[in-house]
Amino acid sequence: MRKPIIAGNWKMNLNAQESVALVTGLKRELAGVTDVEIAVCPPATLLTAVGSAIAGSNIALGAQNMYTQDSGAFTGEISPLMLLDAGCTYVILGHSERRQYFNETDAFINEKAKKALSHGLIPIICVGETLEQREAGITADVVSTQVKGCVAGLSADEMKKCVIAYEPVWAIGTGKTATTKQAQEVHAMIRSLLKKIFSDNVAQAVRIQYGGSVKPDNVSELMAQEDIDGALVGGASLKVDSFAKIVKFNG
Ligand code: 13P
Repeated sequence: MRKPIIAGNWKMNLNAQESVALVTGLKRELAGVTDVEIAVCPPATLLTAVGSAIAGSNIALGAQNMYTQDSGAFTGEISPLMLLDAGCTYVILGHSERRQYFNETDAFINEKAKKALSHGLIPIICVGETLEQREAGITADVVSTQVKGCVAGLSADEMKKCVIAYEPVWAIGTGKTATTKQAQEVHAMIRSLLKKIFSDNVAQAVRIQYGGSVKPDNVSELMAQEDIDGALVGGASLKVDSFAKIVKFNG
């Protein structure tokens, strides 16, 4: 059985005071939850403050990005060692906003994933098609190419640790969620691809999150799908009430 994982991607939002207030509320609301892995991914400047605020709770810390080197002359970048130092367990890699605005490629994301794994950080590898690609009927091709490129050269053990987030770009921040059928179809396709590249054992172990306008009122139906193992939540993760409701999708 795959344990569901629900993560909040705060993107470039909140200040120190707001972020500590948010996780303080989440700790209170989610204290009893043991059947779902919970993570929050604040901006880099807030990792330490949020990490201290959630220390000892059932909420884990994740970063939104990472560079491929441990240290050195890379002005403005953040290394995996720094993320570990701040208390991170997870790191989001290759989010569509990074692909779109910062030209991140599958090869670069692959390099980051290998580096993260080598330090014991769990990558949340993001993939997803644009509206044009979906309308052109090439969703499966686009997403398969992304998955193959991002996981190339990983060992079976490394792959099992990774989380994949399927986030259709057209559903991010737009209020448009993929239908559960559309989401399940792509999730099943990703799992069968992992079976082909690795093995059935690996494919069954990898958690595949859905992301894109996940809200308290659509999460249960999404989570009921066979191959949807969690959610990567943007806007709705910025409020205690909505994120807590999403995490408690089981009621
Ligand atoms: P929204 O939930 O705001 O659509 O964002 C999804 C996302 O990009 C999470 O990484």
